[in-house]
Amino acid sequence: MAFVKVASLHELPPGRARIIRAEGESIALFNLGGEIVALGNVCPHEGDSLGEGTVEGEIVICPGHGWEFDIRSGACMTIPGESVPRFPVRVEGDAILVGLEE
Ligand code: FES
Repeated sequence: MAFVKVASLHELPPGRARIIRAEGESIALFNLGGEIVALGNVCPHEGDSLGEGTVEGEIVICPGHGWEFDIRSGACMTIPGESVPRFPVRVEGDAILVGLEE
């Protein structure tokens, strides 16, 4: 696994989300009160962008049809068994790095 710089911390204030693309993956970054979490951006329902969803606490609501996902785990709260992948994250200074398979 390689950690790749994908964004700067100052660009992602607490409570906000951002979509980045790295190594062919579309990834949604979330800042949960200072903790950065990276999830697969593509909703397993019909592919809308979770990074454009509404964040309520530690839940993101898909802008497509309202499926809710637990940001910490990537698990779908609306349809049991559905989920998006979670990627490992490192923060080094102002740099946000995401771990990706090589
Ligand atoms: S595309 Fe996400 S709920 Fe339909």
